[in-house]
Amino acid sequence: CGIVGYIGKQQAYPILIKGLRRLEYRGYDSAGVALINENCDLNVYKTKGKVDNLTEYCSDKDVTGCVGIAHTRWATHGEPSARNAHPHYSQSHNLAIIHNGIIENYADIKAKLIDKGVEFKSDTDTEVLVQLVEYIMQKKGITLLEAVQVALYQVIGAYAIAIVDKRDPSQIIAARKQSPLVVGIGQDEFFLGSDASPIIEYTDKVVYLEDGMIAVIRLGEELKVMSILGEEQELKVKKVDIDLGQIEKGGYDHFMLKEIFEQPECLTNCMRGRINVEANHVTLSALIDYRLQLLKAKRIVIVACGTSWHAGLIGKQLIESFCRIPCEVEYASEFRYRNPVVTSDDVVIAISQSGETADTLAAIQLAKEKGAFIYGICNAIGSSIPRATDTGTYIHVGPEIGVASTKAFTGQVTVLTMFALALADAKGTINRDEYLKVVKELNRVPEIIKEVLKSNEKVRDLARTFTYAHNFLYLGRGYSYPVALEGALKLKEISYIHAEGYPAAEMKHGPIALIDSDMPVVVIATHNAMYEKVLSNIQEIKARQGRVIALVSKGDNTISRIADEVIELPDVLECLEPLVATIPLQLLAYHVAVCKGKNVDQPRNLAKSVTVE
Ligand code: G6P
Repeated sequence: CGIVGYIGKQQAYPILIKGLRRLEYRGYDSAGVALINENCDLNVYKTKGKVDNLTEYCSDKDVTGCVGIAHTRWATHGEPSARNAHPHYSQSHNLAIIHNGIIENYADIKAKLIDKGVEFKSDTDTEVLVQLVEYIMQKKGITLLEAVQVALYQVIGAYAIAIVDKRDPSQIIAARKQSPLVVGIGQDEFFLGSDASPIIEYTDKVVYLEDGMIAVIRLGEELKVMSILGEEQELKVKKVDIDLGQIEKGGYDHFMLKEIFEQPECLTNCMRGRINVEANHVTLSALIDYRLQLLKAKRIVIVACGTSWHAGLIGKQLIESFCRIPCEVEYASEFRYRNPVVTSDDVVIAISQSGETADTLAAIQLAKEKGAFIYGICNAIGSSIPRATDTGTYIHVGPEIGVASTKAFTGQVTVLTMFALALADAKGTINRDEYLKVVKELNRVPEIIKEVLKSNEKVRDLARTFTYAHNFLYLGRGYSYPVALEGALKLKEISYIHAEGYPAAEMKHGPIALIDSDMPVVVIATHNAMYEKVLSNIQEIKARQGRVIALVSKGDNTISRIADEVIELPDVLECLEPLVATIPLQLLAYHVAVCKGKNVDQPRNLAKSVTVE
């Protein structure tokens, strides 16, 4: 979601709306704006859907005023609707707030405020914050800034917020923890954004607010930054070096590239509140609430389509290895029509980025009728699949816009890993040391991915030499086999080159017949239990003049000598390797498609959400 703010001498509304449009690439489901006019009225307008809906709605409203905040929301708590859209008023309508992030202890705070007689107008965690600030202001007779400090001290969670008060219209208070926030400094005016994109056409002087900091933006004064405890900080003004053209997709040429690059941050979000680093522990609320149903499962069946199905194949290996429960992975479209044996002893896991895939939804209905307990793993909050399941876990990687799924895949695999770990822990089927080792390393995966992303230029250069190919083969074993399938699917989807993923050892039973000097073969050949065997496969390919692109562990000299191209991967536990090895394959597909001049974000014939069977 996006945050925009303005305070100065100009009319705020056009600046805010333009800013919201600049942030549209982030994806959202509702939008809103709060303005304080000359008479100190605080007007809040919000609508479900696009920014166009908001401007249409505002066309006959009073949108005057030189101070305002605006927001695009992507639902987390509470369905997408005008009611749940931001800004949110406080009860007295003196304050309005916009917020990105999640207030984890909102339910506790809300219950206490309701006890004190505060009435809530929405289902959001955000409204709790503005009501709390107002309650504190009134009760203690303190300023907005002081009340924000006290309130944030009580709040657990992630936030970027901006608050205006109609009794003091020359001020905006903003604060951040984990969710980004940027203040732009102009001539007698200030701008606010969840990134610099809504700001840079007005000023190149910005302050990136640091974690735990509050910005006091007051007209006619210098910007002040302080900690929640009120300790004033040195102002670090930076110059933004980007031009307008670059920011439409957050500085990336395509949404897909942006989404590939934001994976470290997405996986951090996905694990937030679920992995406790100090205690080295994984908790998923669904596993606490439905412990009995999940513990009694005699079998787990995963249903999904496309990339989500590939994530399911990795989930199967994790679940069988950690939880010792038999696990099957089915294409939802096949499962639903073949009268499968499903009983009340089964747990069915449905995986879907969009939460709307028709076949997956139908597979859920069927499994439900047969008495299975249904667990959803989805990205789109409030979509049909999470509503149809008994419980589940959101992957929380933010809206995915590129049609070829990237960050949703790694998010799904991350959730499946956490699920398998937490269930195995509850069942006592995982050795304590192994559990701790995997939890610790999983927490490090975002950093490892950052390392891998540094190979982008190398992958781009090698992609150029492979655009001639009409066929690609992708090979991997064990945990790397689904990665090979996913790598091949990515290439196929966006470059229109035919590509097949195969378990490496199966090559001998067919695909080897295709290998010649025109056939690039991508092999995942890192140091793991199958290393020697995969090495033999590479030799078999080279003996037939195939061209090998190998993903190897850092420092591997053996394969580097045989393969035509190598991409090095940092060492990581074998069960977590899919999260890491997938990255260069996403980049490879991306760069091949770009070199071939294809429409990377909207490949022909493909849809992001397949709501027909
Ligand atoms: C479409 C998309 C794929 C996606 C598949 C399943 O084919 O183009 O990227 O993997 O649907 O979608 P879901 O939303 O259920 O994960």
